[in-house]
Amino acid sequence: MEWRVPLADLDYGIEEETAVLNVLRSKWLTMGAVTQEFEERFAHAVGAKHVFAVSNATEALHLACLALGIGPGDEVITPSLSFVATSNAVLYTGAQVRFADVIGPHDLTIDPQDIARQVTPRTKAIIVMHYGGYACAMGEIMALARRFGLPVIEDAAHAPGAFLDEKALGTWGDLGCFSFFSNKNLSTGEGGMLVTGRDDLAEKIRHQRSHGMTTLTYDRHQGHAYTYDVVDLGYNYRIDEIRSALGIAQLDKLAANNARRKAWTERYRQALAGTGLELPFQNARGESACHLMPILLPPGVDRKSFIDALRAERIQTSIHYPPTHTFTYYRSLYGAISLPRTEDIASREVTLPLYPTMGAELVDLVAQEAVRALRFQVPL
Ligand SMILES: Cc1ncc(COP(=O)(O)O)c(C=O)c1O
Repeated sequence: MEWRVPLADLDYGIEEETAVLNVLRSKWLTMGAVTQEFEERFAHAVGAKHVFAVSNATEALHLACLALGIGPGDEVITPSLSFVATSNAVLYTGAQVRFADVIGPHDLTIDPQDIARQVTPRTKAIIVMHYGGYACAMGEIMALARRFGLPVIEDAAHAPGAFLDEKALGTWGDLGCFSFFSNKNLSTGEGGMLVTGRDDLAEKIRHQRSHGMTTLTYDRHQGHAYTYDVVDLGYNYRIDEIRSALGIAQLDKLAANNARRKAWTERYRQALAGTGLELPFQNARGESACHLMPILLPPGVDRKSFIDALRAERIQTSIHYPPTHTFTYYRSLYGAISLPRTEDIASREVTLPLYPTMGAELVDLVAQEAVRALRFQVPL
């Protein structure tokens, strides 16, 4: 399908090409100086004490769970309205998930009150996800986490460059996980970052990212070490220099590109106001990364026909998300769970195209076609 308006598009140019060529010419491809620079720059951008670049955010989530000592017999509270990786990371450790509902159609983030209801004696941690780059109710969530003595992991896959009360998303909790997958605000193809302010967790993550080894190949290449010990069961969750170089180039563009996303989001909101489409996050907390442009169809509208009408105009849309608790695998684990607000929202949600290089003309075109598609569905 040749989309006239794709769901997402990269802002890649000569900066990324040069960055990759420089790495290739250096002939050092695995985690080394470029990754170190990417980590330092990312740490500065989000104000984090410790940062670890990894090959994707799923690994960051897994390492975050392991660092907190989560394992068999434990439970972790997660949103079901998220990408499945948020919950899968918990299952990898042998622990179980307990799903909390979202706040409602105006705010698709996890509901602090439902988090409190899901706490049991087995609860070991809370994972929140900043849907579309919009901040969860972090003030309330951190207060209840303190009350229950629970650590918080932020799935900030959608939220690089987002802030709440001048504190970067991903740095509110004990650990934050960012994704640099191809369609994300900062793209390296595959990639991720795990951040923490806690020294005790950082030490464990440093080892577990690379087989539990005490030194890296790069340390030995530099002559800083001759051998290594293995002090923990670790993984190969390292990033490489090519992706880190892309990450640096993309980080330089992040603030400007998030500002463009915000401008297109505001334009969409104006064009779609009063049309019958519900627009979540009208009164969002803080400064969003505007990763997604979710809309909710009025109840009773056939979503597939709406999507098909846009598709006929070569406009790509998506659904964020089919809820995790409804997947066959999760039903086989937990049976039928009821999360009424998640289910209602997930049945009516459509994500419109949003990317920095989109331009006002394409935003107007998509908004116009969305309104036309809705009129076609609902006889006035
Ligand atoms: C909310 C959320 N969490 C986690 C992930 C996993 O990220 P990655 O693809 O980098 O493993 C994604 C990626 O789509 C995501 O959207």
